[in-house]
Amino acid sequence: MSKPQIFKTPSEMNAWSKAALRDGHAVGLVPTMGALHDGHRSLIERARTENDRIVVSVFVNPTQFGPNEDFHNYPRTFDKDLKVCAATNVDALFAPETKDMYGAHARTWVDVGGLSDTLCGLSRPGHFRGVCTVVAKLFNIVRPDRAYFGRKDAQQLRILQAMTRDLNFGIEIVPCDIVREKDGVALSSRNKHLSPEQRKQARSLSRALEHCRQRVAAGERDAMKLVGEMTEAIQKQPDAEIDYIQMVDADTLKELEKLKGSVLVALAVNIGKTRLIDNMELNV
Ligand code: PAJ
Repeated sequence: MSKPQIFKTPSEMNAWSKAALRDGHAVGLVPTMGALHDGHRSLIERARTENDRIVVSVFVNPTQFGPNEDFHNYPRTFDKDLKVCAATNVDALFAPETKDMYGAHARTWVDVGGLSDTLCGLSRPGHFRGVCTVVAKLFNIVRPDRAYFGRKDAQQLRILQAMTRDLNFGIEIVPCDIVREKDGVALSSRNKHLSPEQRKQARSLSRALEHCRQRVAAGERDAMKLVGEMTEAIQKQPDAEIDYIQMVDADTLKELEKLKGSVLVALAVNIGKTRLIDNMELNV
């Protein structure tokens, strides 16, 4: 266990990273918004095994939150995050202030066409533009060899893969599996906002996905039928309000009628005021 070096400004972070790269070290980056849990931890641990130096960024990025979203209520637990980084032997923790990440005159955005206007992009306009812009900035500041992202945010991962290729970042994007609680609920910083009763209702997301997996294994290929069954199960929860349940091609994110090839089953559900997402990839 060793305390990471903490950097507050892009220039300090960049100087450290450049020195590490000059010394021939492979650098891995794990971008986060903090409130670190075992899902983040699994990304950090994976990065630790594959790189000489690892950087974790903690930045609650305002440009990816809509005006009515939870930017101000997003959990901020810096001291705890620092302990997680120390326990996982993170070398550098990058924790900038908004004013240091976005100058007053910032006017350049990264927008990935086609993949950003479905699923979460529909109910969160501008969200992925904010994500891509901040991740592109982090890539330029840290210049990592590899960057680690969770399959929990499958659409985000797919979009960032496209961005990295389209803009020739030359960074390897490493997808990491979803970490779940014992009862199947995917770990999320937002689970903290659920009441004990709502936490129980949150199980319906992963259960619906599991039901879907079994139905597909038994031969069902009709997307509408499966979406209908998942909808019915989740709607039984008193506080659940479904944003979307969709079966899409895992590569193009286009909606499917008949399941074929690599299929992403993705859902977003509000449980009370808390928006939860989950997904599963199936090879049909
Ligand atoms: P955040 O929600 O903090 O997530 C940081 C990374 O952890 C993402 O790649 C996410 O997919 C991964 N992650 C979260 N929960 C996980 C789980 N249960 N299992 C596996 N991985 C999990 O995603 C963001 O932050 C931001 O959009 C960011 C990319 C940092 C840009 O601001």
